[in-house]
Order: sequence, then C-alpha cells, then structure tokens
Amino acid sequence: MRPLALLGSTIFVALLLLLLAAKDGSAARRGAPSRTRRDLNNPLHRGGIRDPYGSYCARRGGCCPGRDDQCTVPYLDTICYCDLFCNRTVADCCPDFWGHCLGVSPPHIGVCDRNGNRFHSGATYRENCNLCTCGSDGRWDCEQNACLIEDDMIQAINRGNYGWRAGNYSKFWGMTLDEGLRYRLGTQPPSRIVKNMNEIQMNMDDSKPLPHYFNAAENWPGKIHEPLDQGNCAASWAFSTAAVASDRIAIQSMGHMTPQLSPQNLISCDTRNQGGCAGGRIDGAWWYLRRRGVVTEDCYPYSPPQQAQGGERAHCMMHSRSVGRGKRQATAPCPNSHSYNNDIYQSTPPYRLSTNEKEIMKEIMDNGPVQAILEVHEDFFVYRSGIYRHTDVNYHKLPHYRKHGTHSVRITGWGEEVSHDGTRKYWLASNSWGKDWGEDGYFRIARGENECQIEAFVIGVWGRVTMEDMHNHHHHHNHHHGRRK
Ligand SMILES: *[C@@H]1O[C@H](CO)[C@@H](O)[C@H](O)[C@H]1NC(C)=O
Ligand SMILES: *[C@@H]1O[C@H](CO)[C@@H](O)[C@H](O)[C@H]1NC(C)=O
Repeated sequence: MRPLALLGSTIFVALLLLLLAAKDGSAARRGAPSRTRRDLNNPLHRGGIRDPYGSYCARRGGCCPGRDDQCTVPYLDTICYCDLFCNRTVADCCPDFWGHCLGVSPPHIGVCDRNGNRFHSGATYRENCNLCTCGSDGRWDCEQNACLIEDDMIQAINRGNYGWRAGNYSKFWGMTLDEGLRYRLGTQPPSRIVKNMNEIQMNMDDSKPLPHYFNAAENWPGKIHEPLDQGNCAASWAFSTAAVASDRIAIQSMGHMTPQLSPQNLISCDTRNQGGCAGGRIDGAWWYLRRRGVVTEDCYPYSPPQQAQGGERAHCMMHSRSVGRGKRQATAPCPNSHSYNNDIYQSTPPYRLSTNEKEIMKEIMDNGPVQAILEVHEDFFVYRSGIYRHTDVNYHKLPHYRKHGTHSVRITGWGEEVSHDGTRKYWLASNSWGKDWGEDGYFRIARGENECQIEAFVIGVWGRVTMEDMHNHHHHHNHHHGRRK
C-alpha cells in the first residue's frame, strides 16, 4: 500500500483511491493479464521509475525466462513484469527487475532535452498539431499527424510560381489536417438525384459581350453581404446558402430588404437529414428556405460550438407557420434580447446552372451571386492572396498529407490578371472562414477550367419578394435607422 501512503493527506482521497485500487485489483485477479494489454505497451515508467527501492520481483520469488505474460506483480495501479521479455521495451519491467533479475543498475530514467532544458520521461509538449512525449530512452517521441498549417508547405508555395501566396493563420495553427476537413467544411457532395437536376436553359446573347471584370459588391453597393466565419462548425451548407439568399433578396428588392439571413436558423432547425455542425446538404437547405423560411442573423445570431464537435446540435429556437398565399410568419420571438424583428424570409426553388463559364458569368451579372460546390484540398487552408490553384507541393509526401473534402462557397464575380506569362482568368468568391482569411474573407480561383470542381455544380435562386414586402420593409428599414440615430 505504499502508493496510498504517499497520497494519504486526507482520508477522503485515500478512501477514494482505495476504492479505485480495489477495483483495479479485482480486475487483475479475475483474469490473467491479457496479451493485448501488454502489446499496448503501456509505459509504466512514464514520469520516471517510481518506487525504485521497492521489492517486486524479489517478493514474487524470482524472475521468469523468456516471455511470460503471467510473470507479473501489482505495481502502483497496474502491474509490472519480471520476465526477461520486459526489458525489450524497458517500459513494463518492475522497478527492481534490473537489480534483482539482471544484476545491473536500472537504465537511467529518460531525460529529454529541449532548448537546453531537461524534461523527465512522460513530459509532453505540443508541436503544432502533434503531441511530443519524452520517452524513457531520452528521446522525444512525436505524433505524426499532418497539420493544417505546415510550414514547409507554406514556404514551398511561396517559393514556387503558383500564382498565389500562402500564409499562416493562428486560428488554424495546432489543428490537424483531418480536423480542418472535419470542422471547417461541411457540405455533402450532391446526391446523384440532385446532380441530375436539369440545368436551366440560358439565352446567351452573343452580341452583348461579358465584361472582363465584374464584382457584385461594386455593382450592387450595400446589397452584398460580407463573409462570415463558420468557426469550427462544419456547416458551410448553411453559410453558403444563407449568404446567396441574402444577396439575392437584397438585389431583387432593390435594397428595400437587405437581410443577412441566419445560418444558425438553418443549422438548428433544418434538421431533416441534416447534420448541423457535422455537415449537411445544400438541397436540404434550399428546401427549408423555400418551405419554412428563416429569420435574420440579427434575430437568430450565430453561436458556434465552443469546442470543435460534430453531432451535438443546439435546440431549434425559431419556427414559422403559414399565413396564406405562401407566406409565413415566425411563431417565436428572436432568441436574443436586443432584436425584435422576426420577419421570415423565403426563397423560390433553386435552379442549377450549366457548367459553362459564360453562363455562370451571365447569371451572376443579371441576378447576383451564386452558390458553388468546392473541393477543398490541404493547400487551400493556407491561401492568403492571388489566384488559387491546387498545387503539387505535397505530392512527394505521405498520402495523409494530401486530402480533400467538400465545401460550398458563394461566387460574387470574376476578372482576369494580365502578366508576362499570359492572362489568368479567375472567379471572385466568398468563403466562410472570416474576414481575416484570404483577401478579406474572399478568394480568387482559376476560372474556366473547373478548378477544384468549382464550375461543376452551381446554384442560383430567387428570393420570395413581393411589392407588398418591399413597401412594408421600406418602413421597417426607416424605423430601424431612426431608432439607431
Ligand atoms: C536485456 O537483458 C539482456 C540480458 O538478459 C541484456 O543483454 C540486454 O542488454 C538487456 N536489454 C536492455 C535494453 O537493457
Ligand atoms: C503560425 O502562427 C502560430 C500562432 O500565431 C505561431 O505559433 C507559429 O509559429 C506560426 N508558424 C509559422 C510557420 O509561422
């Protein structure tokens, strides 16, 4: 009971530990220590060999030749081994194994060096997304995850002639690439049925050439909404849908209504076949926007999960009911104390555009931003500026450094950049990773070559806006301003 004596400052703690020890002891007695436990190679001496003068193998009555998984003695809250096999890994030998069985002094307890400081075995530190542990052999043993921010990737991109620059983002620092793909995207690839959605026929009037540059935010000042930050919530399905619908309603109502629609309303309430912060489908989001409608961000503010997480979902705080002629009304007040305007906004059915670059351009120019699916590769996270193209900088690395996932974004315009090696055409698009990412929350990406699938599945939509709406909202609008001033 030596370990308990060390801890016995309060009776309560001691009792608690006694209970735990008893539980552990009975588990050990019930069955012989299994091979799996041993193969897991639980490092007993993490934190150094404890109780180095205790007698274990000696009290057991000796040592066992070769490998003998039954040759054990209780040690602290687990077991230690007295068979010769234990010294293969150092980790699970009893403290007196070395002296009693081998007649040698125990190997020195691992001491690892880091920047001139000494750490005992079991000490840990984080290096970007990997945990490093001081091993009993005196070496740091680090996890080998691919990180979302990899210094060598940033440097390779910036050294190469890729047409865009990479940068470090402190909010991505320390995350693994897997976590980035799991928490920062969140759009399911469109199902086969959705993919087969008919593309609209567009009347391309060739006599009217499209401009070389178009930016919805400049063309419709005050009607195009700024990029938001989805945080570590895989809900780009809700963010891209709400963003496109918001812009379309503002454009269509000629600025009488400029709602920033609430992604949280979709995340929490559009739950049929949707995963909230664990990903969702844009066809489901459009269905909800058409049939149920959502309120504004001001009314139903975004509350991202505090910790990166999947399935758990906030309760739906907003519902709507029909008030005739296809219109709906909220049945709950805004779930916050400062906003009273719980108007419901709806859309018409979405329509799919062709994959033709010119038709996508014409649609944006005529009707406003569109939604697009984007296949996000590992190098996209570090995009800082320029015209993005997926690079080959990680091709020489292990496969777990090269991964991708499906995302959705809002395309708001296009342009071209003329340089000595030709003209490079691009789309201008808004992401949902905050305004500190990319070019003020936007990015440019190669146009006309279906880069990362961006032209493969493009969606347009109409807001449901009537003359009556425009009249009513005009008043709201004025009141709002009146109050604020
Ligand atoms: C393990 O024990 C053998 C003797 O039985 C010895 O030769 C060998 O060096 C020991 N290994 C370690 C890692 O101490
Ligand atoms: C990136 O940013 C993080 C946090 O701001 C910092 O600790 C890290 O050293 C930076 N990495 C590089 C490669 O600049």
